[in-house]
Amino acid sequence: MAKAEVPLNIAHRLLAGNPLVLLSVSLGELVDITTVPWCSPLSLTPPQVGVSVFTYHFAHDLLTRVEEFAINVVPRDWLRQARFCATVSGREVDKFKQTGFTMEEAKEVAAPLVAEGIGHLECGVVGQHSLGDHTLFVAQVLAASAEKDLFDTAWQVKERDLRPVMHLGKDYFAVWEDRFEALPAEPPS
Ligand SMILES: Cc1cc2nc3c(=O)[nH]c(=O)nc-3n(C[C@H](O)[C@H](O)[C@H](O)COP(=O)(O)O)c2cc1C
Repeated sequence: MAKAEVPLNIAHRLLAGNPLVLLSVSLGELVDITTVPWCSPLSLTPPQVGVSVFTYHFAHDLLTRVEEFAINVVPRDWLRQARFCATVSGREVDKFKQTGFTMEEAKEVAAPLVAEGIGHLECGVVGQHSLGDHTLFVAQVLAASAEKDLFDTAWQVKERDLRPVMHLGKDYFAVWEDRFEALPAEPPS
């Protein structure tokens, strides 16, 4: 499989359906991966996304200091490892080592990409908003890539195990059905 660049004006479509994503961040030797389904496109021009991170998380510590990160869209067959990343803290555990995830160099940020991801957004923080127990990090998308065979101008994933996963709450997850193209919209008769 090979990855290709995705134009920034449609990079937000990598997040369609709000898939479960892994946020990766690094500061020198310190590296963390955190599971965050609370991630959303926010603006087309400039391309911006928002990610909401609990203030106590190690990832939160690092993010406030380096102000850049990567978002990695996780396919269904890596859900077990992604859930593991959500049960331990990077303060105590090397999550790359424990999960078998592979680090891949990003183009625009120091944070490593999770190579097993099927899509990636590289992001620079442009704003931080304190919202109760979470901080909303607003970030500009600096680069984006996705598996060529799985994303043309939107997700098109035939294999069920390679589809992104949506977190429904608690321990419930879902994958979407096949993609279809809607007919031109008509006024209701
Ligand atoms: C399914 C699931 C979804 C989660 N979603 C989020 C989220 O959107 N934002 C967040 O800050 N933490 C979320 N968490 C919690 C973190 O992933 C978890 O506490 C993680 O271990 C923090 O790791 P860190 O200390 O290395 O940053 C979620 C946990 C699970 C199990």
